[in-house]
Amino acid sequence: MQVTPQRIVVLGTGGTIAGRAASARDNLGYKAGEVGVDALVQGVAAVDGFELATEQVAQLDSKDMDFGTWCALARRCAHWLAQADVAGIVVTHGTDTMEETAFFLHAVLAPVKPVVLTGAMRPATSAAADGPQNLADAVAVAASPLAQGVSVVFAGAVHSAIDVQKVHGYRLDAFSSGDAGPLAYVEEGKLRVLRAWPRGPALRNANALPDPADWPRVEIVLSHAGASGAVVHALVKDGVAGIVVAATGNGTVHHALEAALLAAQGQGVQVRRSSRCLLGRVLPQAGDRLPDADGLSPVKARIALQLELMP
Ligand code: SIN
Repeated sequence: MQVTPQRIVVLGTGGTIAGRAASARDNLGYKAGEVGVDALVQGVAAVDGFELATEQVAQLDSKDMDFGTWCALARRCAHWLAQADVAGIVVTHGTDTMEETAFFLHAVLAPVKPVVLTGAMRPATSAAADGPQNLADAVAVAASPLAQGVSVVFAGAVHSAIDVQKVHGYRLDAFSSGDAGPLAYVEEGKLRVLRAWPRGPALRNANALPDPADWPRVEIVLSHAGASGAVVHALVKDGVAGIVVAATGNGTVHHALEAALLAAQGQGVQVRRSSRCLLGRVLPQAGDRLPDADGLSPVKARIALQLELMP
C-alpha cells in the first residue's frame, strides 16, 4: 500500500535562531545555540496535512561547525529521508556557515526530497525575532511538492545550496544567490518558483564518509596586493593535501603566490582557483596552469576538494 508522506522533520543544530539574550531589546549581546529545537517549533503553524517532528542534532554557534557535526547531521538527514512518511527535512542552523553546511549536504546526499536550511539574524529572545517566520517559510518549502534537493530559505527567498552566500552581517535579508538569483520566493506559505532546482549525483555517500580525523586537509589562501608564497610554503611543509586560492577577478593570482602554488602542485598538492568576487565565476581558459573550481566560492570549493581527495 502506498504511504502518503506526512511528516516534516526539523533538525536543530543551534545558531542565532536558537540564541538567547538577557533582554528582548538586545539583538547583539546574545549567546547562539541555547534554545532547543522543540521550543523553536512551538510557534510554527503546521502546514495542512503535515506533522512536525523534531530532533536536536547539535547545539552550537556555527562559526565552530566541525566535520564530526557535519557527519552526524548528514547521517540523520539520510535516515529521515529514507522514511516513507517523511516529506522533507528542515535544518535550523547558524547563518555564519550555513552556506557551507548546505553545500556539504547537497554533495553527500543529493536528495530528491527537500532538505531546507534556515536560521535567523536576531536571537529567539528578540522582540522582533526573524526566526519564527523563516522557520515557518522553511517548513512550507519542505512540505511543497515543487521543492527538491538542498536549499536555504531566508527572508522569503529560496536559495540553492550551490549559489547561496551570506552577504550581510546584520541585515535580516542576509543571503544572496548572486547573479544566479534565487530558486523561488515563499509568499504566504506558497512557493513562486523562478528556476529549476539544481540536481546532481552525490560526490560521496553520507553513510560512508571516513572518520573526520582522516579527512584530507584542504586550506584556503587569499590572493591580494603584496601577496607572497610564504603561507603556501608553510602549508606544503605541514603536509596539506589541497589548496584553494581565493583569486582576484576572473581567477588571477599574484605572481609570487602563483609561483608557490605551481610549485606545490608540482609536489602533488591539488590546487583549485576560485574567485574572491561575490558575483560571477572564474571562466576557464585554454592553457590555465591552475585548475578552476567549477564556479564554486572558495569555502565551497574547499569542501568539494576535500570530498574529492577522501580515501
Ligand atoms: C551562528 O552562525 O551560529 C551565529 C550567527 C547567526 O546564526 O546569525
